[in-house]
Amino acid sequence: MAGSQPTPPTHARSSETSWPGIGLIDHLTTAVLVLEQGSIIERMNAAAESLLDTSLQAARGSPLSDFVTAGELSDAINRVLDTSEPLTERALPIVVDAGHTHIVDCTLTPISGPHREPGILVELIQLDRRNRIAREERLLTQSAYVRNLVRRLGHEIRNPLGGLRGAAQLLESELRDAALREYTGVIIREADRLTNLVDRMIGTRHPPRMQPVNIHEVTERVRALVDAETSAGIDVRRDYDPSIPNLTADPELLIQAMLNIARNAVHALGDAGRIVLRTRVQRRVNIGATQHRLVCRIDVSDNGPGVPDELVDSIFYPLVSGHDAGAGLGLSIAQSLVYEHGGIVECASRPGDTTFSILLPMDSGE
Ligand SMILES: Nc1ncnc2c1ncn2[C@@H]1O[C@H](COP(=O)(O)OP(=O)(O)OP(=O)(O)O)[C@@H](O)[C@H]1O
Ligand SMILES: [Mg+2]
Repeated sequence: MAGSQPTPPTHARSSETSWPGIGLIDHLTTAVLVLEQGSIIERMNAAAESLLDTSLQAARGSPLSDFVTAGELSDAINRVLDTSEPLTERALPIVVDAGHTHIVDCTLTPISGPHREPGILVELIQLDRRNRIAREERLLTQSAYVRNLVRRLGHEIRNPLGGLRGAAQLLESELRDAALREYTGVIIREADRLTNLVDRMIGTRHPPRMQPVNIHEVTERVRALVDAETSAGIDVRRDYDPSIPNLTADPELLIQAMLNIARNAVHALGDAGRIVLRTRVQRRVNIGATQHRLVCRIDVSDNGPGVPDELVDSIFYPLVSGHDAGAGLGLSIAQSLVYEHGGIVECASRPGDTTFSILLPMDSGE
């Protein structure tokens, strides 16, 4: 009987009490949905909201097919409706409304009770998410190691460079012949160029200055800077969630990280294209092995040609670049600035649709 069930946790939605234990499933990382009358969404937990990129409030009463294109999953649901037998299917592809494809293991269990419609309990275990966690942990540890290496190398190069530049200046002041002074000019200019590069390699010198930040002040600063730098053929659009609470962050560092990403999008588009700056809150998100209750996601999407296949696995490493003029530092710097906030930068790219997402935790993790 519903009345004899334990009281749900206080943060659970009050409407969730009619399905016993449904408040508890909000704590699962597996996506769980309850479907009634065929495939009408009646309940879903936070992980399902995150997977389907919607909220229970928006989805309740609508068919599952409004949020996900899932031919094989729909077939499986129909089979369970026909037979009333539980069913497990492995590695099913589903495409969510935002256009992303996920691979899931799916368990369907028919449920019924004396005072409610028969339904189906759907559990979706995201396989790509499991791989993603392993990949992210690898990326975080490997890139911390590479960053350290590059920083030390940068320091080693910086000091002798100062000496070289100083000596060239002294020599220049002794030279009467203008043609010879051109050579010292080259040494000084190239030393300055290398010093700039090395300064970028070494990175910020001060620890983050954490303060309450409205994320849209960050995104709007980046939008204004990108707008000022781009040609009229590039359309920069905004898709913000205004309800995102303030974060604790260093706004200057976040602007730098997002600007590096947005400038890459501009570069990828060339003369014409579209950039979308998007903000969202996501619940129950893993960053590496740590699960966060609430994460702020900032997407920078472009409809350019996409990250070249041969670079996909290495773009976040320093000195990896797909073009001659690039130092290959922008993304590794962005990754390390976001890492200092406990977050991560992710990338999903195919021709015509590339999204870099900055994930920033809004809690200290569980
Ligand atoms: N939005 C994007 N679309 C396509 N390719 C991208 C995009 N963003 C990054 N890349 C690829 O990733 C590479 C690495 O980017 P990163 O910002 O680290 O270095 P860079 O832009 O080459 O040089 P730097 O930023 O130091 O001037 C780029 O050279 C490019 O090939
Ligand atoms: Mg760059």
